Amino acid sequence: PTGTRYEAENAVISRGAVENNHAGHSGTGFVNGDNVAGSHVEWTVDGTAGPATLRIRYANGTTTGRPATVAVNGATVVAGQPFGGTGAWTTWATATVPITLDAGANTVRITANTANGNPNLDYIEVQQ
Ligand code: GCU
Repeated sequence: PTGTRYEAENAVISRGAVENNHAGHSGTGFVNGDNVAGSHVEWTVDGTAGPATLRIRYANGTTTGRPATVAVNGATVVAGQPFGGTGAWTTWATATVPITLDAGANTVRITANTANGNPNLDYIEVQQ
């Protein structure tokens, strides 16, 4: 089971655009965040109170990691999720992060730490 999938193209994007020019993405596209620190994507996900597994599908076609902050309901869960190079923009990888959710609506935000911005973000999945 993969939990519930939330596409990045349906999330709230701060400084970035939905694109579809790199094959292999789910849904209608992915988010290409601007190459700037602080650009972010924020999803609203449903939860029950307690632990959950967050999976983040991304591509980084460079050889430089794109560390990002993963926050749930405004609280940082991972300060430097590495998002290393995947070899090509068409090669998608999944990062797994343990999180804790509240009952009902929760926000999951991925914010670029460096001037290189976020990797391209395809979707998140939340499993409880
Ligand atoms: C390329 C690539 C984009 C990517 C960007 C980046 O332009 O085509 O999909 O987002 O590099 O470096 O972030």
